[in-house]
Amino acid sequence: MEKLLFDSHAHINYEKYTDGERAAVMGRVESSPVAFVLDVGFDMASSRLAARDAAAWPWCYAAVGVHPHDADAFTAADLAELRQLLKAPKVVALGEIGLDYYRDLSPRDRQRDAFRKQIRLALETGVPITIHDRDSGGETIQILKEEGAFSDARKAAFPPDAPGAIGAPDARVLLHCFSGSAEQAFEYIGLGCTISVAGPVTFKNNKKTARVAAEIPLSRLLIETDAPYLTPEPLRGRPNEPVNVELVARKIAELRGISYEETAAATLANARRFFRI
Ligand code: NI
Repeated sequence: MEKLLFDSHAHINYEKYTDGERAAVMGRVESSPVAFVLDVGFDMASSRLAARDAAAWPWCYAAVGVHPHDADAFTAADLAELRQLLKAPKVVALGEIGLDYYRDLSPRDRQRDAFRKQIRLALETGVPITIHDRDSGGETIQILKEEGAFSDARKAAFPPDAPGAIGAPDARVLLHCFSGSAEQAFEYIGLGCTISVAGPVTFKNNKKTARVAAEIPLSRLLIETDAPYLTPEPLRGRPNEPVNVELVARKIAELRGISYEETAAATLANARRFFRI
């Protein structure tokens, strides 16, 4: 089986999996074209689990962080533990962090506070950041700007972009499951962001994300499942898994008018560069 896909955002650490279910999901990755999966933390327990998964499986890497939904419970001890977790060689990013004003599961001032503290940790430790942004009305990007996430010093600390890459130098800020317009995507790429597209790009009525996937520079595009959520067509309605990132790649290839192999190879190379794998 040729390994040619990178699922840049999945939750193998999903808290409702039994050990058997988690092992089955991992086994299917092993016998699939998926070369790498980033297992992304959303609270402290899932961050610890992601770090453990990454240590155990050669194809698994971890991001650790506290999601805005869990921001109310975020403590100084948690921040210190995230700093420790980031020392492991296969814990490669801070995330998913950000703001969620759609569900508002934590008070907004607590969301902002947890977000700012975790951005500062990412800047201090020099790791890429994976962003969750829902209905913040631009505040997520504003806070990233205020904290210096797009500074020249931040960009210079990472290996340079591939020759011929379009856009501002890469600040290693990934907008996960991007749901904005193509215009917004171009604006954020101009700041140094990278865009990650998930299963909703396969949904029939989702013209907005189809345009994003078709039009942004390929050098700033990553693909993901956000498994077990957001299952792509034609499997919608079932639990999602990292192996379904192939369906996202195939849809993007169709939208861009390029081959599936080219789409897979480019997004794999982009993700390896982004996360320094
Ligand atoms: Ni997620």
